[in-house]
Amino acid sequence: MSGRSDYLLRAISEEDLEMVLAWRNSDRVRASSYSDHVITPDEHMAWFDRLQNNSTDVFMIFEIRETPFGVVQINRIDKVNGTGHWGFYIGVEEAPRGTGSIMGLLGVEFAFIELGLRKIVGESFAFNQASIRFHLKLGFVEEGRLRKHVLKGEKYEDIVVFGLLRSDWERNRMELEGSVFGSQGR
Ligand SMILES: CC(C)(COP(=O)(O)OP(=O)(O)OC[C@H]1O[C@@H](n2cnc3c(N)ncnc32)[C@H](O)[C@@H]1OP(=O)(O)O)[C@@H](O)C(=O)NCCC(=O)NCCS
Repeated sequence: MSGRSDYLLRAISEEDLEMVLAWRNSDRVRASSYSDHVITPDEHMAWFDRLQNNSTDVFMIFEIRETPFGVVQINRIDKVNGTGHWGFYIGVEEAPRGTGSIMGLLGVEFAFIELGLRKIVGESFAFNQASIRFHLKLGFVEEGRLRKHVLKGEKYEDIVVFGLLRSDWERNRMELEGSVFGSQGR
């Protein structure tokens, strides 16, 4: 039986770099990312170096009982407006159903409580049903659609833009916890 304390988000460290690069370069994650070229180790190292010296982006590793399963990143943190844009993926393909939702719940808490944000923005390809359901389940509201916005292969794809206000999350927090932890391992 797993409890809430089995799950955590922690900052990325240098020891995670090889694992994160393998996850980020997997077909599954590239298929859902804006930029889908295969990232080289040098590029990855340069990205990590930039991350260390930058206050607008954070990158967290999601663990279950001290085993890494995925990542949550918050980018473009805007202290004036209290906003940030998030990204996430489950790297371990055999993760049980419901794992992404638990990671998302922790990511939302982190953004609102640790970073003090007022609003989280998410963007999904319109074809990415898992990400769309994931955002809606976490209480995000669809705020718009960027039509034919990103070139994916031969085609420009639509992007669905989601927003979650801290005030809405606070109102629904208990209910959300119940549904996310209750549905784990279905
Ligand atoms: C998006 C992602 C993190 C969700 O993680 P997950 O472990 O699949 O999530 P959960 O099992 O908690 O499911 C969350 C919701 O998505 C739905 N879902 C999961 N996989 C799905 C799929 N392949 N097709 C349609 N819906 C799916 C679930 O049914 C659930 O919704 P529900 O509770 O209303 O039924 C994961 O699929 C992933 O890492 N995808 C690749 C990277 C990615 O797309 N990142 C987001 C970029 S915007």
